[in-house]
Amino acid sequence: MRTFHINAAGTFLLLRALLPNLKQANDPKVIVMSSRMGSVGRNVAGSAYAYRASKAALNVMVKSLSIDVPEVAFILCHPGRVETNLVRSREEGAITADESVAGLLPLIAKWKTDDSGKFYDRFGDPIVW
Ligand SMILES: NC(=O)c1ccc[n+]([C@@H]2O[C@H](COP(=O)([O-])OP(=O)(O)OC[C@H]3O[C@@H](n4cnc5c(N)ncnc54)[C@H](OP(=O)(O)O)[C@@H]3O)[C@@H](O)[C@H]2O)c1
Repeated sequence: MRTFHINAAGTFLLLRALLPNLKQANDPKVIVMSSRMGSVGRNVAGSAYAYRASKAALNVMVKSLSIDVPEVAFILCHPGRVETNLVRSREEGAITADESVAGLLPLIAKWKTDDSGKFYDRFGDPIVW
């Protein structure tokens, strides 16, 4: 429940609170840090019930926001498997935060309203819901 509160409900309440300002902004764009773990279609490994469910819920809420608030671009992204407190020890294939952000920044700059409601990986490729 804690994971769900923070990742899903918390993010939604924050975005809802920001809506009045976002609607008045010039080319407003919201990048939401989701996770490939929230993809139902890509779930081949099982487990991680709370985390997966929290990110799947987040994805569907952000998708609804992209439909209900078309003047704001809402983009969901997966940062890759990044060495952080979430990925405690160095995992095979894990990248640094700098590497993840360096890959994402040009994509974030490029994403526009047409990308609203889409779910992308760190290379800019779409992730199945
Ligand atoms: N690392 C990965 O491989 C990976 C992959 C896919 C998606 N993500 C996503 O990337 C995002 C960042 O995760 P991370 O890997 O950087 O993990 P992390 O090192 O554990 O960082 C989590 C961050 O969330 C903050 N936080 C936790 N609970 C909070 C709360 N109740 N209210 C406000 N802030 C809170 C923490 O703040 P404090 O430092 O103050 O505790 C910390 O800054 C997450 O949304 C995660 O799902 C990460």
